[in-house]
Amino acid sequence: MNIQALLSDKVSQALIAAGAPADCEAQVRQSAKAQFGDYQANGVMSVAKKLGMPPRQLAEKVVALLQLDGIASKVEIAGPGFINIFLDAAWVAQQADAVLRAPKLGIAPVAPQTIVIDYSAPNVAKEMHVGHVRSTIIGDAAARTQSFLGHKVIRANHVGDWGTQFGMLIAYLEKVQNENADEMELSDLEQFYREAKRHYDEDAEFAERARAYVVKLQGGDDYCLKMWRKLVDITMAQNQKTYKRLNVTLTEDDVMGESLYNAMLPGIVADLKAKGLAVESEGATVVFLDEYKNKDGDPMGVIIQKKDGGYLYTTTDIACAKYRYETLGADRVLYYIDSRQHQHLMQAWTIVRKAGYVPDSVSLEHHMFGMMLGKDGKPFKTRSGGTIKLSDLLDEAIERAGKLIAEKNPDMPADELQKVVNAVGIGAIKYADLSKSRTTDYIFDWDNMLSFEGNTAPYMQYAYTRVASVFKRAGVDESDLTLPLAMTEEREIALATRLLQFEETITVVAREGTPHVMCSYLYDLAGLFSGFYEHCQILNADSEEARQSRLKLALLTAKTLKTGLDTLGIETVERM
Ligand code: ARG
Repeated sequence: MNIQALLSDKVSQALIAAGAPADCEAQVRQSAKAQFGDYQANGVMSVAKKLGMPPRQLAEKVVALLQLDGIASKVEIAGPGFINIFLDAAWVAQQADAVLRAPKLGIAPVAPQTIVIDYSAPNVAKEMHVGHVRSTIIGDAAARTQSFLGHKVIRANHVGDWGTQFGMLIAYLEKVQNENADEMELSDLEQFYREAKRHYDEDAEFAERARAYVVKLQGGDDYCLKMWRKLVDITMAQNQKTYKRLNVTLTEDDVMGESLYNAMLPGIVADLKAKGLAVESEGATVVFLDEYKNKDGDPMGVIIQKKDGGYLYTTTDIACAKYRYETLGADRVLYYIDSRQHQHLMQAWTIVRKAGYVPDSVSLEHHMFGMMLGKDGKPFKTRSGGTIKLSDLLDEAIERAGKLIAEKNPDMPADELQKVVNAVGIGAIKYADLSKSRTTDYIFDWDNMLSFEGNTAPYMQYAYTRVASVFKRAGVDESDLTLPLAMTEEREIALATRLLQFEETITVVAREGTPHVMCSYLYDLAGLFSGFYEHCQILNADSEEARQSRLKLALLTAKTLKTGLDTLGIETVERM
């Protein structure tokens, strides 16, 4: 049920019947205030301007032609030509009833697309740190949302698994292995990387060996490839544990690291040269882009192959976009990468489009996000200024949630408590990130995210348990509710109308990759349910009709909250 789409259709038809061009826009949106109805159509003004007609006159014509019988109880013209639409309560009740019975909350089937989602993308032999948190969390919500809608989602974990640093990493792995006969465990990747770097900087012989290994690795040497593989596997096994803790859907099979594109790179450079897009400049191969100017105002040069023959991050992203279209068959590619890499991506894609590697019908979208900041508004760091390890952050979340939940539920059995603590602790971190508009920086604040008040995971999870418990207390089963949904109270109608806006909401989230829109919707829904619950008797309603109808509203609210939280990757529990 997508009311916005339905009304857009109806208003457009009326506009066209009133003389507007076929591509006119009805501009239907949810009204900000109840006095303006449930929806308003704002398209009349711009169409009237094009037609050279007084807007109110056009509005009157449109309203006369508008066929909303049975859907709206009232249609009004306001101001210069806004059309305010008030939904009919009986229609709302009927639709809500249908949604309750339908699978997937009655969302209309989509024309399935293949959507590649690039997210998480940690680096090999490095611990995943808070910088990867946003990409992992927001990207996973996007993947869940698109697949819930019925699209084919390909999760692409663009792991940093290639580069000159592997010479030193292989040399160091070899050293560690020689010294410890036992199979080593790289439990502290950060430490491993630091030690490798230290040896490289301080030991000339080691550095020599490291440089030789880079060359051998690039040449496909068996031994070096084996050592490299080991580093990748150890890192990804560790990351997989983190994904599991985070309830993130990425698996080992989703790893499509930078190295995957190596074989394509020489061909791409040769092709860009042949197409006249790339030229030799001071020994390197460069693409000059008129779209970007350097500080002297000249076209910016993007290096795609260095003097020494090495390729760059940009070259890989050119190949990667091509691969996602050609080989994976993507209709859309969504990149969840922080905003500091925006220019890099735009340059890579400008080259991709110029070379014709990906047609314009396939969209490449950078769903960028800002940084995670500490309470002081500076980049989030440990007290001593180091980067915060993700695993430490999760430990702290569990510890804090543990105290909170144990206090509130002194009698809960230990295994249930553990489940709840996990859902709340991990949920809090994820929801705090998801609920903020992703384009801005956000402040990481434990107290806020674990609060039971406001737009937080604990609040939403608690709201769900309350709604679910109403239904359970009634001791009825969904199939017992045989009477139609019928409403008399304002609060019931407001709740039902909002429930019907789930599809509209998820459509926006899917189009724009903005999970905070889902969070705000669910938060609002929980608030409307509270109002309804406090003012309308459910189990002691005046009639059996009202009792069943209100139970249906509670049930649909519970389902909507759960489904919405599912698409965000936030777990629900039955009590807390
Ligand atoms: N590994 C990179 C980093 O840690 C992120 C990769 C993002 N994806 C891409 N296609 N460039 O910064």
